[in-house]
Amino acid sequence: MTMAYDNYYLTKDLFGEPYPELMDFFKNFPDRGKLLDLGCGQGRNAIPLVQLGYEVTGIDNSKVGG
Ligand SMILES: C[S@@+](CC[C@H](N)C(=O)[O-])C[C@H]1O[C@@H](n2cnc3c(N)ncnc32)[C@H](O)[C@@H]1O
Repeated sequence: MTMAYDNYYLTKDLFGEPYPELMDFFKNFPDRGKLLDLGCGQGRNAIPLVQLGYEVTGIDNSKVGG
């Protein structure tokens, strides 16, 4: 089944850079732990959060972006 974002996600990095306020929050958070990114899309936030040291589970119903 084709989901709403499938065609949009044919474009690389559709939503651009990670969400700045979210990254600032997690950069400054004292502990690294597990995060759940519901609707993670192409991983624009999930991937840099992994790079910060978090264990991120991303879920998305688009087979193209998720
Ligand atoms: C506005 S996009 C944001 C994507 C990503 N969080 C980002 O910031 O780049 C919303 C995302 O939610 C996903 N989504 C919408 N409804 C969903 C559902 N019921 N289950 C899983 N993912 C869903 C879409 O496929 C899409 O990737």
